[in-house]
Amino acid sequence: MLVIIKDDYEAVSQEAARLVADRLHKKPSLVLGLATGSTPLGLYRELIRMHADEGLDFSKVTTFNLDEYVGLPPDHPQSYHRFMRENFFDHINADPRFVHIPDGMVTEIEAHCQWYEAEIERSGGIDLQVLGIGANGHIAFNEPGSSLGSRTRVKTLSRATREDNARFFRSIDEVPRHAITMGIGTILEAQDVLLMACGDQKAAAIQAAVEGPLTASAPASMIQMHRNAFVIVDRAAASRLSDEHATALEEAVLFRRPISGSHPDTA
Ligand code: F6R
Repeated sequence: MLVIIKDDYEAVSQEAARLVADRLHKKPSLVLGLATGSTPLGLYRELIRMHADEGLDFSKVTTFNLDEYVGLPPDHPQSYHRFMRENFFDHINADPRFVHIPDGMVTEIEAHCQWYEAEIERSGGIDLQVLGIGANGHIAFNEPGSSLGSRTRVKTLSRATREDNARFFRSIDEVPRHAITMGIGTILEAQDVLLMACGDQKAAAIQAAVEGPLTASAPASMIQMHRNAFVIVDRAAASRLSDEHATALEEAVLFRRPISGSHPDTA
């Protein structure tokens, strides 16, 4: 795991965008796993800028979003379909045929989840999965207690998550109680995993994810099992970490450049 600590949200967003752009330059038909929420907004803004100013090309990219609320139609203001359109897809040249977001309105949910998993497999698997983290340690909507081997399925949202997300709705009563979410097993199969977090409300969750024991009560700790996990955080989210995590050679590891001299500690 490589933990990179940046000064602030802007710097986190830019570093994350550099990583996505790097992988995209190396593989134009990248299979990209995407997240919603406040955290990746700066990343999407920077990728949109790179598309406009530098011609970053998404035309061959396939995307899979982590999750969607059950019961919200795609045009609902708080649906993740709408979020992704407004904050990313409307501003880049991704081919809509290659964009995948779970459908929160399907009646055959289980069949839909199986189809989603099959589509990921058919695409060759996710190359780079972007993740945020809940204050309770969830990744995607894998709430505390989710199993390591879980696949795309319906999860009941915890009270804590519904309270966190109530800021996007008129009241907590409007926050859906269920979501379709990729499983932890699904996420861990991505070639690279990029976990982003900012703000001191994420500090405890980041400490548990990076330094805590591997436990289902802190689902993000499961990324300790991943061989290419990158954690990019601001100083506030890193404030509870006990170790010096960033290394002078982080660039080489992040962008897979040859390393000369001593080796960085990327355990
Ligand atoms: C969203 C998702 C969630 C969020 C998490 C953090 O697709 O998978 O796990 O990443 O709830 O949300 P923010 O970034 O709003 O703090």
